[in-house]
Amino acid sequence: MGPCGALGLGLLLAAVCGAAAELHTLRYIRTAMTDPGPGQPWFVTVGYVDGELFVHYNSTARRYVPRTEWIAANTDQQYWDGQTQIGQLNEQINRENLGIRQRRYNQTGGSHTVQWMFGCDILEDGTIRGYRQSAYDGRDFIALDKDMKTFTAAVPEAVPTKRKWEEESEPERWKNYLEETCVEWLRRYVEYGKAELGRRERPEVRVWGKEADGILTLSCRAHGFYPRPIVVSWLKDGAVRGQDAHSGGIVPNGDGTYHTWVTIDAQPGDGDKYQCRVEHASLPQPGLYSWEPPQPNLVPIVAGVAVAIVAIAIVVGVGFIIYRRHAGKKGKGYNIAPDREGGSSSSSTGSNPTI
Ligand SMILES: *[C@@H]1O[C@H](CO)[C@@H](O)[C@H](O)[C@H]1NC(C)=O
Ligand SMILES: *[C@@H]1O[C@H](CO)[C@@H](O)[C@H](O)[C@H]1NC(C)=O
Repeated sequence: MGPCGALGLGLLLAAVCGAAAELHTLRYIRTAMTDPGPGQPWFVTVGYVDGELFVHYNSTARRYVPRTEWIAANTDQQYWDGQTQIGQLNEQINRENLGIRQRRYNQTGGSHTVQWMFGCDILEDGTIRGYRQSAYDGRDFIALDKDMKTFTAAVPEAVPTKRKWEEESEPERWKNYLEETCVEWLRRYVEYGKAELGRRERPEVRVWGKEADGILTLSCRAHGFYPRPIVVSWLKDGAVRGQDAHSGGIVPNGDGTYHTWVTIDAQPGDGDKYQCRVEHASLPQPGLYSWEPPQPNLVPIVAGVAVAIVAIAIVVGVGFIIYRRHAGKKGKGYNIAPDREGGSSSSSTGSNPTI
C-alpha cells in the first residue's frame, strides 16, 4: 500500500496526501470503545488545528480541556462550558452507537470501536473542504457525501443508519455546519494560534539504501519539520512511483516537530535512477535527494597495506638481525675455532659486536 493508499479512515491519509494544497485544517476525532485498557476512558474526543492537538475530552473527566497555550489564552469559561455540554451529549450518543453497531453485526461481546472523524479544511486556493465519516472496528462504516447531501453506507450494516439520517435531514445540517460554522471557528483558531501555527521548520532529509535478498530497499527520511503536512515521494527516472512506495506515516516528535519516512524497493544497481522528493511549506521548492552509495573506502585499505609493510619490515628486520646474530655467533665460533684448532690469529672483527 502506498502512502496515499486506502485505510480505515481514508480521509486521514487523503489529508496527508493532498497536504500541499491545504492551508488550514480543523479536525475532530471521537473514539468510543467497549473495551478500553484498564484505567482508560472508554470515550475520547481530540481536536486538532493544522494537525496540532488543541482540545481534549474524555469520559473520565467529562470536560473539554485546552491542550495548547493559545486556545487557553483566547477563550472564556462560557466557551469551555459550551464545549463540555457538546462533549457529554456525544459521549451518550456514542454509547448508543456502540450498542447499535454490535446489534447490526449480531455481536454479543468482544472488543469493539466506533470512530468518528469530521472537520473542515481551507485550501490554498480558498476552497473549503468538509467531511464527516465513521468507522467501526477500523473499517469504513458510513460517510457524509456533503455535495450530494446524502450518506454513503460503506457496508450493508450501515444502510439503516443512512436511511434514518437522510430522513432526519442530517446531511443538510452537517453540510451547513462544515461549510459555515466549522470554517468560522477554524479561522478564529488560526488567528489565536498564529504565532505557533505559522512557524516553519525545514525537514532534515536523509536517504539511504540497503540490499538484501536481491532487493535494494531505498529509504527516505524527513526529520524535524513543522507544520505537519508534507509530501515525500520516490521518483524513478523523474516519474513518481506511488504504487511501490511504503510510508511509515507522519509521526510527532517530542519537541512539536514531526518526522516521516518513505521506502521503495528497487533492483540492485538501479539506485541512481531514484530520487526522493520532499514538498513542505518550509521549502520554497520541492527538495530532491539521491542515494549516494558508500564508495569503497580507501583509507582502511591504505592503512592496511601500510601496516602490512611495516609488519613485513619488522619481520624481515628481526629475521635479519637474528640471522646476523646467529651468523655472528657462528662466525665467532668459526673465528675462535680456528684459534683453538689452528691457532690462526684471525680476529673476531668479522662479526658485528654491537648487534
Ligand atoms: C482524561 O482527561 C483528563 C483531564 O481532562 C486528563 O487529566 C487525563 O489524563 C485524561 N485521561 C487520559 C487517559 O487521557
Ligand atoms: C445477523 O442475524 C440475522 C438474523 O439471524 C441475519 O439475517 C443477518 O444476516 C446477520 N448479520 C450478520 C452481519 O451476520
